[in-house]
Amino acid sequence: MPRRYFRYPTLEDLDREARQLKLDLRLEPDTRRVSSLLGRPVRIGHYRAGNSLAIHPMEGCDGTPLGEPDELTFRRYDRFARGGAKLIWFEATAVVPEGRANPRQLLLNRATARSLRSLLDRTLEAHREVHGSVDDLVVILQLTHSGRYSHPRPLLCHHHPIVDRLTYLDGSRRVPLPPDYPLMDDAAIERLEDAYAQAAGLAADIGFHGIDIKLTHGYFGNELLGAKTRQGRYGGSLHNRTRFLRNAIEKIKAVTHDRFLLASRIGVFDGLPYRAGADNGRGEPWPCSLPYRHGFGVDEHRPQEPDLTEPKQVIALMKQSGVGLVNVSMGNPYTNPHIGRPFEKPDEGNYQTPEHPLIGVDRHFRLCGEIQQAFPDLPIVGTGYSWLQHWQHHAGAANLRDGLATIMGIGRGALAYPDLPADILTQGTLNPATTCKTLTFCTYLMRQKTHPWGQHPTGCPPFDKEIYGPVIKEARSRKRRG
Ligand SMILES: Cc1cc2nc3c(=O)[nH]c(=O)nc-3n(C[C@H](O)[C@H](O)[C@H](O)COP(=O)(O)O)c2cc1C
Ligand code: SF4
Repeated sequence: MPRRYFRYPTLEDLDREARQLKLDLRLEPDTRRVSSLLGRPVRIGHYRAGNSLAIHPMEGCDGTPLGEPDELTFRRYDRFARGGAKLIWFEATAVVPEGRANPRQLLLNRATARSLRSLLDRTLEAHREVHGSVDDLVVILQLTHSGRYSHPRPLLCHHHPIVDRLTYLDGSRRVPLPPDYPLMDDAAIERLEDAYAQAAGLAADIGFHGIDIKLTHGYFGNELLGAKTRQGRYGGSLHNRTRFLRNAIEKIKAVTHDRFLLASRIGVFDGLPYRAGADNGRGEPWPCSLPYRHGFGVDEHRPQEPDLTEPKQVIALMKQSGVGLVNVSMGNPYTNPHIGRPFEKPDEGNYQTPEHPLIGVDRHFRLCGEIQQAFPDLPIVGTGYSWLQHWQHHAGAANLRDGLATIMGIGRGALAYPDLPADILTQGTLNPATTCKTLTFCTYLMRQKTHPWGQHPTGCPPFDKEIYGPVIKEARSRKRRG
């Protein structure tokens, strides 16, 4: 029977466990202070967010085959908008069709722009209806190319001795990619710079305040940052590995207005790939040879450990080029999900957490804190709060208080409990009965491709039962039927 980790009837119990694990987890005990710290407005470039809470980008895999938002997409953003966070970071939206991670991922091009405008308009309307105004609501759109996780054809920046064995071919068959599987060539990467610029121009026209050049979770932008073994203009040295980023930023600036916000969600520590071990399915790192030259933010000689030297150089470069908002994340949801999304229970068939999830939460806070302290005047959104359930805002407030982040980002917590920001701000307490329990059904749904459109939508089956209860039932039944 897998162990249950989260068992903290009081905040003191959580604090005690953190100290036993020798973690420097900060918790602000005073609920009034918590609300006031998280209610602080934040200046982000030319804009002002009315509080210090953000909804992280989270795909619902619920668009139409053309990449337009569909009914469930509108519903998700309506819920986020009503929840009261003043930074809404719209989900991963592909800039080219071949870079979509699944057949229902949002896609931004001339054909879909109108539908994304409706999504934004309706989100703003819902926020206005509940909170009176949208003058202090900041909206960012995450732009992505899924790289080796593109569906159905993986598009690789470099070969990875372990991850090449785990990459899905045609979206569902996990067969090792052959060593001569072609890489994206330099010309394709250069064209992608233009595609990002075109999508950013459309996002600006639609009315988003800014875009995020996604550099995390093993997708294209993140993989390229770690492409130390790639030959040519986009690989090898950090200068080459950031060429795409530098060029894309300049091309985006050329087609957007002066107030347009450039943001980036960056994975500051890729970590090693993991697999289920003999010890009851507990995760263990795949063996690798040293020096390990296949990750970003990874110590080449002790690859289980982060090395923030390059991530800091990349953030410095971005800041110098005009990036005014950074969201710090880490890990790869396909190869080491415990790093990015500390969980209580894995998605079905995946490994059990190899570490106490509080260690993963602490890693998020520590690395984000180190980045924030290196760039004290750059607004940084922190990640990894949901595992803390109804105590998460005490950690968020303490991190803001101590200068370890500027904004507390909420991921799974908001799928389960969309009014979580409002409850933090008005009551300072959260309802333990409705907070996300990190049981990972949402990730399970993301991996299910048996829907007639090639992808089941995702959400929170335990706490948004009416909608996603039947969805998961259907996905399981189709999986059983093969
Ligand atoms: C269903 C689901 C979809 C996600 N989609 C995205 C995405 O589109 N872009 C992204 O950067 N992260 C995505 N993530 C990661 C979350 O933004 C967040 O980093 C992660 O869940 C950890 O934060 P949490 O502990 O608050 O959940 C997704 C996570 C989930 C569970
Ligand atoms: S399915 Fe719901 S409870 Fe489970 S991790 Fe996702 S958001 Fe949390």
